Amino acid sequence: MQILVVDHPLVAHKLTALRDERTDSPTFRRLTEELVTLLAYEATRDVRTGPVTVQTPVAEAQGVKLTSPKPLVVPILRAGLGMLEGMTRLLPTAEVGFLGMVRNEETLMASTYAERLPEDLSGRQCYVLDPMLATGGTLAAAIQFLVERGADHITAICLLAAPEGVERIERELAELAVPCNLVIAGMDAHLNDKGYIVPGLGDAGDRLYGVA
Ligand code: URA
Repeated sequence: MQILVVDHPLVAHKLTALRDERTDSPTFRRLTEELVTLLAYEATRDVRTGPVTVQTPVAEAQGVKLTSPKPLVVPILRAGLGMLEGMTRLLPTAEVGFLGMVRNEETLMASTYAERLPEDLSGRQCYVLDPMLATGGTLAAAIQFLVERGADHITAICLLAAPEGVERIERELAELAVPCNLVIAGMDAHLNDKGYIVPGLGDAGDRLYGVA
């Protein structure tokens, strides 16, 4: 897995404002969208394109356009929804699928409780949106789910990650046969005993939507 922590002053500025507990939900939502658009720029570096020729008012020009099948953006419910607008702003022709994952608190295994995705993802590039990479269980399960459906290139975009979660993803997906990238705005110190990222930004879903 290739991991990119995006090092850019605008990303750092918006992430700092997101962390601030005084930031209200409407501002948090707007900042999340803006931050995801910046991350998406890096995350789509290897989006597939093919050559095209266009006629300018002056002459023919060689260029590129995104190829089929269309990229698929997959927000993980609930908090990943807050990242969708920021992603599709940059990739407006992408299709969108939804994945609801929940962790069983006894077994700590993540399982799928809702999904709205094409049955066959063969040849698809998928962009998974999940703001907080904490233990890594949910993201690892989501990526495995997409690969079992045939996805052949996965990029996960997260706002913050904990080293524990990144290590778990790397361990669990080590045998994955498809290329997998992780793009994040910041790598934090550790998880606390409640599974929150420290210093983090709190519960991303609650801060986005204002309800528990
Ligand atoms: N999910 C969140 O929303 N926040 C964390 O810190 C960890 C998981």
